[in-house]
Amino acid sequence: MEIGPPDRHRVIARQQSYHGNTLGALAVGGNAWRRAKFAPLLVETSHVSLCYEYRGRAEGETSFDYGQRVADELATEIERLGPETVMAFIAEPLVGVTLGAVSAVEGYFKRIREICDRYGVLLILDEVMCGMGRTGSFFACEQDGVAPDIVTIAKGLGAGYQPIGAMLCSARIFDAIAGGSGFFQHEHTYMGYPMAAAARAVVKTIDERGLIARVKAQGEKLDAALRDAFAQHPHVGDIRGRGLFRGVELVSDRASKEPFDPELGVAARVKKAAFAAGLICYPMGGTINGRRGDHILLAPPFIISDDQIGKLVDKLGTALADVV
Ligand SMILES: Cc1ncc(COP(=O)(O)O)c(C=O)c1O
Repeated sequence: MEIGPPDRHRVIARQQSYHGNTLGALAVGGNAWRRAKFAPLLVETSHVSLCYEYRGRAEGETSFDYGQRVADELATEIERLGPETVMAFIAEPLVGVTLGAVSAVEGYFKRIREICDRYGVLLILDEVMCGMGRTGSFFACEQDGVAPDIVTIAKGLGAGYQPIGAMLCSARIFDAIAGGSGFFQHEHTYMGYPMAAAARAVVKTIDERGLIARVKAQGEKLDAALRDAFAQHPHVGDIRGRGLFRGVELVSDRASKEPFDPELGVAARVKKAAFAAGLICYPMGGTINGRRGDHILLAPPFIISDDQIGKLVDKLGTALADVV
């Protein structure tokens, strides 16, 4: 609106993504059951495929080619809608709650960036869950070799305790507003929230205590421990993620990747059993299409010790044994 053309209003997002529970965020989210109740209130959004190698890559296709193929769906959708009507594309660099720490394959986000640039579409990355050092770099997208036009951060910004979120934008966007109307029309009651000072302290602490390097080191140990314990487990289909953001996908059959019957409520049972064993984790059902599939999301504190990594994996093993 500040720079024209004025027709750009459409947002393209990805299936199975989650961007929050307020109307705008829910509308761009692609998770069917979360949207269903509020469907009449949601602005129309297009949803293209995610990059979910474990289930999406075709037989004989390389990882790279798979990533390019699904990224190209964005260009097709922009063309279908009319490039002059598309405002932005939004995605989570690692899909958190709905998929369980799924990162994109090499080259996917670079291709997405190229497509956005080609059509003048803004790239918005939602790092509410995967940002703030969680994956072993301050922004998760650093590891994908791209920079967005807008990025959202929250959760870790308040060290997980203080409710605070933020959006950051490139100088190009800032300057367009500053040099245009000069008015950022998004004020809220708490826009002068003093807790922004606490968030600054969190950022400073992450930096001064070298916590991102620690996330990387402990993340590798967590990954190794999960693989040691579950790589051969008959009901673990995939172990994935980066840093201290890891996911385990559960299946009823490893070879065919067949999920458990949703009626069994495996994720909910794992949550209960893990809690009873002394582990708070984030199991979720509906991994594949909002209904089928189960995964467990693990996001321990950045200060987790080696001993605690062992305990985490033991307790998860107890919960899995209990349920499956
Ligand atoms: C990726 C992602 N974006 C955004 C949000 C924020 O949601 P809300 O705005 O409802 O707090 C979440 C919450 O879990 C999330 O996982």
